[in-house]
Amino acid sequence: MSKEIKRYLVTSALPYANGPVHIGHLAGVYVPSDIYVRYLRLRGRDVLSICGSDEHGVPITIKARKEGVTPQDIVDRYHALIKRSFEGLGISFDIYSRTTSPVHAVTASDFFRKLYDEGKFIEQTSLQYYDEEAKTFLADRYIVGTCPKCGNDRAYGDQCEKCGSTLSPDELIEPHSAVSGSVPVKRETKHWYLPLNLYEQTLRHWILDGHKEWKSNVYGQCKSWLDGGLQPRAVSRDLDWGIPVPVEGAEGKVLYVWFDAPIGYISATKELTPDWEKYWKDDETKLVHFIGKDNIVFHCIVFPSMLMAHGGYILPENVPANEFLNLEGDKISTSRNWAIWLHEYLEEMPGKEDVLRYVLCANAPETKDNDFTWKDFQARNNNELVAVLGNFVNRALVLTKKYYDGEVPACGELNDYDRATVAELQTIKSALEENIENYRFREALKEAMNFARIGNKYLADTEPWKVVKSDPERVKTILYIALQITANLATAIEPFMPFSAAKILDMLACSRFDWETLGSMELLSAGHTIGTPSLLFEKIEDDVIERQLAKLAAIKAANQAAEASQQVEPQKDEISFEDFGRADIRVSTVKAAERVPKTKKLLKLTIDTGVDTREIVSGIAEYYSPEELVGRQVLVLVNLAPREIKGVVSRGMILMAADASGRLTLLQPSAETVNGAVVG
Ligand code: 2FM
Ligand code: ZN
Repeated sequence: MSKEIKRYLVTSALPYANGPVHIGHLAGVYVPSDIYVRYLRLRGRDVLSICGSDEHGVPITIKARKEGVTPQDIVDRYHALIKRSFEGLGISFDIYSRTTSPVHAVTASDFFRKLYDEGKFIEQTSLQYYDEEAKTFLADRYIVGTCPKCGNDRAYGDQCEKCGSTLSPDELIEPHSAVSGSVPVKRETKHWYLPLNLYEQTLRHWILDGHKEWKSNVYGQCKSWLDGGLQPRAVSRDLDWGIPVPVEGAEGKVLYVWFDAPIGYISATKELTPDWEKYWKDDETKLVHFIGKDNIVFHCIVFPSMLMAHGGYILPENVPANEFLNLEGDKISTSRNWAIWLHEYLEEMPGKEDVLRYVLCANAPETKDNDFTWKDFQARNNNELVAVLGNFVNRALVLTKKYYDGEVPACGELNDYDRATVAELQTIKSALEENIENYRFREALKEAMNFARIGNKYLADTEPWKVVKSDPERVKTILYIALQITANLATAIEPFMPFSAAKILDMLACSRFDWETLGSMELLSAGHTIGTPSLLFEKIEDDVIERQLAKLAAIKAANQAAEASQQVEPQKDEISFEDFGRADIRVSTVKAAERVPKTKKLLKLTIDTGVDTREIVSGIAEYYSPEELVGRQVLVLVNLAPREIKGVVSRGMILMAADASGRLTLLQPSAETVNGAVVG
């Protein structure tokens, strides 16, 4: 028997305040959650939308160390930026709080203390990695090494970003400190563990039997965790940034970020309303967590176990986690700057907030990872928003201005086609609701756009611009209906594109309608005067897209160069002193240089080695011009056996350094030396 739903509590994953928000975050979490809460509000439901910055944890301290500032400086900077950019995109949280707030410190501390007092934790001393140079334990991302599952040599102590595996520091191969680079030792340390195994049976029953309706990716991940058997999990860390563990003998220890962050949902609700308990403790509340797939275990297993251990709290009704969004075929990555950052988009594309919301929803990674491309962005704007939605609204309004000076005409008798159109809108309304309520936002958006598609078809089929000459009375009915569809659109698209919905209402000179009116043909009364029509969307030209692609190309090139400079060839096999002594290297001067005809890479150099003057062919034409070389001192291996290259007998080799990408740099003495001086 399904229980009555009196209110909704919708949470969106708290973003880490160690960087700005990008389109992957938006498509995965924030756009869907905003669609959901806007829809519920339009339906008049009691709903709270909760979010805030996740301001503890190692990613923040690492960033602070890198920049030589305090963790507080980092979170202050990014909290403000993230909050502002969410507002800019119309993400309508009821509160956007932060986990460094005083309310949160008390809430998380009290939560821990209750579990501690009631003996819900296991206290255990174990050996953990310790950096003797930096004098710190190496929790989570403070330790890096090779992933045992995929071989990625930059895996973290809590996760491998390449294959997505959850890891523990002990699983890493060749672990080293991310702080100092040194090889860590093991030291004893005491921590508190939540025995997840005690909640396993309840979780199995609750999720595997009770929530078969959850998205298959979420249900599947939960099943695999539960089938694998749950283990006690540490809820504290040896760090100096976080909420202090509120018990005696816990100096230098803080709550694990994944213990405090989800409690942040509760603290933020507390901060928002004195009625917060109604939302968290009454089982007539429907709690929904919007998250990305990397957060599934924390929201479906760990946090529910914490809530059960505490008692008195409701559990989520659903956790509609999305998969990941890629960018132009590559995984989005904060560290490689491979992303479209929300704050930059808002600056570079003013007035196009809804275009981004639209594209991210239309292409949302709901069932599998998806790809964002700028070409698709342009095509969706031009072929869907401009050509379908904008075009319909514009035609309806402009014709009303033209024929009736902006006054809604009176509706005559409906014919069969009119009635069929109106009936179709009712069917779409039901499909739209069904899809949103079941977290299928891509499908829901298609249904919302169907209002505009039907409107366009209606105008194309009824041709008011032709009929106006022969049957002006009929045109009044046609435009009456077209205007009602336009008013319907303002409601249907509001959850997805709130800026455009507001613009339509403004052009119609009316205020927002309730969701229940959707499908009605009586939203605008005959005689009502509409406002001034203007374009809802503008075509996006190629040069705008090319600029964005060029920006990404520059980022890719910079990444490649940085990666190449980090790769170092492994050391060659050992040689004896005598082996080295056989190589005769001399300081020499380039006397003349010319290109070897019909080659791109080769130069023929005339070299004074001090011993003699000879010709050497060298593959450096891509990096040095002949003019740059003449007169320059270089190092030459002079006793290399002669070799014929492109018809020239080359006697010796110019010494150069090559990076992993093959880029060459000449080696030369740091001060002018006589030719023939021996190197060794
Ligand atoms: O993955 C993340 O970005 C986390 N900061 C999400 C936290 S969600 C919640 F539990 F706070
Ligand atoms: Zn891996």
